[in-house]
Amino acid sequence: MAQRARFSSNIGFLLVSAGCAIGLGNVWRFPYITGEYGGAAFILLYIFFLVLFGLPMLTMEYTVGRASQKSISRAFDVLEPEGTKWHFMRWVGFIGNFMLMMFYTCVAGWMLNYFVKMSAGEFNGMDTAQVGGVFEAMLANPGEVVLWTVIVCVIGMLVCGLGVNKGVERITKFMMCALFVILLVLVIRAVTLPGAEGGLAFYLMPDFSKMFANGPGGFAEVVYAAMGQSFFTLSIGIGSMEIFGSYLGKERRIFGQALSVGVLDTIIALMAGLIIFPACFAFGVDPGSGPGLVFVTLPNVFAQMWLGQLWGALFFLFMSFAALSTVIAVFENIIAMFMDYKGWDRPKTVRIALVLITILSLPCALGFNVLAGVQVPGIGDIQGIEDFIVSNNLLPLGSLVFLLFCTRKFGWGWKNFIKEVDTGEGMRFPQWMHGWVSYCIPVLLIIVFVMGWMPIIGGWLGL
Ligand code: ALA
Repeated sequence: MAQRARFSSNIGFLLVSAGCAIGLGNVWRFPYITGEYGGAAFILLYIFFLVLFGLPMLTMEYTVGRASQKSISRAFDVLEPEGTKWHFMRWVGFIGNFMLMMFYTCVAGWMLNYFVKMSAGEFNGMDTAQVGGVFEAMLANPGEVVLWTVIVCVIGMLVCGLGVNKGVERITKFMMCALFVILLVLVIRAVTLPGAEGGLAFYLMPDFSKMFANGPGGFAEVVYAAMGQSFFTLSIGIGSMEIFGSYLGKERRIFGQALSVGVLDTIIALMAGLIIFPACFAFGVDPGSGPGLVFVTLPNVFAQMWLGQLWGALFFLFMSFAALSTVIAVFENIIAMFMDYKGWDRPKTVRIALVLITILSLPCALGFNVLAGVQVPGIGDIQGIEDFIVSNNLLPLGSLVFLLFCTRKFGWGWKNFIKEVDTGEGMRFPQWMHGWVSYCIPVLLIIVFVMGWMPIIGGWLGL
């Protein structure tokens, strides 16, 4: 049997994993939901979920991966007690990863498209209405949206086709290093703009009253959003991170690795906010403008800035690298899932996966134009529906399964988990977390999950 792929260095593992975590969630979703839910107070809640929910669950995914040496399509078959059905998780893996990419490739395509538009100076001299018009025109044009979605699918699969080391690891390392440098340059530019202080205060000074402004229902919505975001940003629950555990050797203990990835991910998200909020306040534009923040508000800001074309192009290059690093990582997982499950070789799998993912990405791309009528009340358009299924359902519920599997005797069990997670050098898994992960997280997770569904169901029933 072919030897399982291994990362060529630990830094390769960290950057590819962080590349999977760092993506549109950090640079697009995090700033706009932080803007909508009132800034710093929301960030504290988000960090709470990230550390106390996300980190132990990320550790569990890696551990299942390393112990089984398989992707999620086979990992549970290897570790589950005989006669149990944990291996059904493979379908959460297949559906979750495909569905994540079904809308992710589309938004990644917008980023690349905007990088090209910015570089070409298309926004130079435009006023607010004209900048907004460019975004609307892009969405309304099925050819344009589909073309950029296909470009993203092809780039991602070409990189994965080169293999784990020569493709995924090498290209992601380059993109992540470039991303850090560009980010630093942009943060310095943004925080030194005249008037940036207002944005820094909004972003960094917690104002808890904003969280309770809409009563208990509004607070539940904020909690649900913070939890969803912490799961989304770590890509946990569907095996997208588990795969990188399966490429790990036994030299290092896993908790420290997960901690490093979580810290890198959080730094990038926080720094993305340090570009966006100071820039919005410096130019007097609304940071709570929702998903259009990056595509409408920011090009406006760049249009008013000295050397705006350069800053704008760098910003969308940064966004494109963040998005592509996730696309490549999740494509790698999709490929590995098929290879483990079906026994296909990489070239054949890449060809099949490319066709599948391209076709499956079309509904989202067309959902802004020809399929714009497809809507679910309380959830939204096709992109919203796909995002909702993944972020608000598959990620938390999948994480719950990983958690039960690692902590319960009817699963893989705590003893096996601790033995594997603590193999190697470095930080041990904190023992005090045993009670927290076994009892508190499952209960809290279910409560928050139900709370999140209640307003939607209430809306459907007309309550
Ligand atoms: N973890 C990925 C992101 O944050 C999905 O974009």
